[in-house]
Amino acid sequence: MSYTIRPLAPEDATIAADLHIEGQPGTFLTSLGRRFLEALYAQMAVSSYCFGYVAVDGDEVIGVVTGTTDSGAVFKELVLRRGYKLALPVLGSLLRHPSLIPKVVQTMLYPSQTHIEPGEAEMLYLATRSERRGEGIGRALWWAFADGLRERGYKRMGLCVDVANAHAVRFHERQGMDLIRTFTMYGREFRWYVLPLE
Ligand SMILES: CC(C)(COP(=O)(O)OP(=O)(O)OC[C@H]1O[C@@H](n2cnc3c(N)ncnc32)[C@H](O)[C@@H]1OP(=O)(O)O)[C@@H](O)C(=O)NCCC(=O)NCCS
Repeated sequence: MSYTIRPLAPEDATIAADLHIEGQPGTFLTSLGRRFLEALYAQMAVSSYCFGYVAVDGDEVIGVVTGTTDSGAVFKELVLRRGYKLALPVLGSLLRHPSLIPKVVQTMLYPSQTHIEPGEAEMLYLATRSERRGEGIGRALWWAFADGLRERGYKRMGLCVDVANAHAVRFHERQGMDLIRTFTMYGREFRWYVLPLE
């Protein structure tokens, strides 16, 4: 089936949050709730530190990719610009699930885990609607993002993947990424991969 790829826009935030919840059930950001994710994607769509794309079939968004040149700056922007709207829902999630509190701290330390170097940028999230997987949409979004970084003058693209997400690990490796290091976060093992863009 056909689809086109266009830049992520603020009005895609709700469907991007849906794709995040569908593709990453039970993960830390998903457990902070839909309103948190909607705000995150709305901020990423307008942030000067981010860009992304969506795959669209007719009126339906069927895939999303986003990334950043500075993940720490994006989270700070989110708190400064949207924190007043997020405080109550996020506090509610934390009170319902206190085990999430240490994960908030680990997420704030995340930028120091990835060691992003000058000239490097990070793919934050990629997902395709579950019933549309295996059609090449993920690969098209992945390369749209990598090409977007190359056009902006970046030399390397990095990304972090949970080792337990074996399909994603295989997918990223098949795009030609090099494994740089592993680290532990949220009690799980993650890998940091890099693709040279030159
Ligand atoms: C990883 C992901 C984005 C890939 O998207 P996709 O649209 O299925 O990607 P593609 O169709 O381009 O390629 C998927 C690969 O799986 C194979 N595949 C075949 N049938 C498939 C199916 N039913 N479901 C998934 N993959 C399938 C494809 O042939 C392809 O393999 P290849 O690279 O050897 O050709 C998608 O699986 C997803 O959204 N996963 C959940 C979110 C996630 O884990 N994201 C990564 C976080 S780091």
